[in-house]
Amino acid sequence: MLTDDVTGDGRINIDDLQWQYLKGDGDFRSDEIKALRDEADIIVTNPPFSLFREFVAWLYEDSKKFIIIGNKNCVTYKEVFPLIKNNKLWSGRTEWAGGMWFETKSTEDVDKVVNGINMKNVSSIWLTNIEHGRRHQPLRLMTSAENFKHSKHKEIRGKSAYEHYDNYDAIEIPHTDAIPSDYDGIMGVPISFLDKYCPEQFEIIGQTQGDSGKELGLKPFPRELKKLNPSLRDGQLYYMENGIPQKPYARILIRKKK
Ligand SMILES: C[S@@+](CC[C@H](N)C(=O)[O-])C[C@H]1O[C@@H](n2cnc3c(N)ncnc32)[C@H](O)[C@@H]1O
Repeated sequence: MLTDDVTGDGRINIDDLQWQYLKGDGDFRSDEIKALRDEADIIVTNPPFSLFREFVAWLYEDSKKFIIIGNKNCVTYKEVFPLIKNNKLWSGRTEWAGGMWFETKSTEDVDKVVNGINMKNVSSIWLTNIEHGRRHQPLRLMTSAENFKHSKHKEIRGKSAYEHYDNYDAIEIPHTDAIPSDYDGIMGVPISFLDKYCPEQFEIIGQTQGDSGKELGLKPFPRELKKLNPSLRDGQLYYMENGIPQKPYARILIRKKK
């Protein structure tokens, strides 16, 4: 914490920062860095993706406030998703669409150049346990009937009902903006719903990644359907469309709050 006016300019600010080299190699698992963690008010960092699960557990060892960067896929990890479901971790204020831009030293793997600096787009997201207003703004949604009439998505417009999964009592919602405002049951929505998730508007029931679907009680698919869609897997959602089983992408299961 900054407590001294080192520069003597009458204010305590970043110019008064004092620093020293670490004794060790800076590994977050070392006692030296754990002691710094315990002292910190807020941890802001871009942890190594390969150690992401371990890093998140490390943050919760000392109930820290944090703002971290993760890969978009990390939200379905079995160590991370329960934290989101239980409102202990949520999206930062920045929306997920579009990824993040980082300066890169590479001269080949470059997505754009800004003022002579090579930039790379990475599908990264901010995750935090610090409150912010956007998280409490409910999504503005149309009713089912309005969706069937006005949706910009061709799979929804002109329909008379949402697809219902065959192996779980929930409806398939292929786009977050196609969530109906008037459905009281469980809905399967894309993972990108999570950056719009407002805990006062919806509760999260679970997800279908890995073994989670089996734990939620998704019924196994009848074996004869495998011929029609070889990608079917037990523990994954499917619905029938014109006699063919369809397997959507990974889904988060949500329900409107009463
Ligand atoms: C995703 S990079 C972020 C780098 C930098 N913070 C940035 O934003 O450009 C992750 C960083 O964590 C470092 N790292 C890898 N293993 C680590 C460990 N066990 N403890 C602490 N840092 C580690 C890597 O060297 C790398 O610099």
